[in-house]
Amino acid sequence: MKVNLAFDVYGTLIDTQGVLEQLKTLVGNKAQLFSDTWRTKQLEYSFRRGLMSRYVPFSICTQDALNFTCDLLNISLTALQKQQLLKQYGCLPAFDDVAIALPKLAQKYRLIAFSNGESDSVQGLLEQAEIADYFHAAVSADEIKTFKPDPQIYQHLLNRIDATAQDTWLISSNPFDVIGAKSNGLHAAWLKRSATAVFDPWGVEPDIEISQLDELLHSLD
Ligand code: LAC
Repeated sequence: MKVNLAFDVYGTLIDTQGVLEQLKTLVGNKAQLFSDTWRTKQLEYSFRRGLMSRYVPFSICTQDALNFTCDLLNISLTALQKQQLLKQYGCLPAFDDVAIALPKLAQKYRLIAFSNGESDSVQGLLEQAEIADYFHAAVSADEIKTFKPDPQIYQHLLNRIDATAQDTWLISSNPFDVIGAKSNGLHAAWLKRSATAVFDPWGVEPDIEISQLDELLHSLD
């Protein structure tokens, strides 16, 4: 049986900084700060909603975080401008190494997209990046109304693909996701997407660290 590789989507396959160009036209030199704040707050909202058992779809966390970011940075955007930014979030680009690595990895492993995002959003992103066909399944946290790193989501992944933790790797650039997977017995690779990224010093380490997805071809055996 093939080993399963479950890929995180936002930040791992798909570049959440893909809103930067649009933000530059709207907020000028605050674009990077805006983008970083938006992403950080989106994740914080998902964590808090998970802890409080007050689930809303991830797209609502994204929308609420956008409104928060405008308020925090004292930037006034029209309803239409916000709508356009959210639309852009639905067609973010894949990172350059994705299209190179996935065809090779799909020959050797069973690939799964595994995300907080709703199924429709994830499917839309994979299709417009022209990588949807490499995936055996897309598993969304929305199916059980919780968010990473709730332990239930990693068990749900295994249930959905009928796999054991021993046969399954999580591939993620998000340290909280790697620690979540490792805490539930899965193998995990940390994709260090930027030279300045730091892994959480919790005493739970990824099995491997990579900087390009095609390194997986030689690292998992
Ligand atoms: C995801 C977020 C955590 O795709 O990046 O699940």
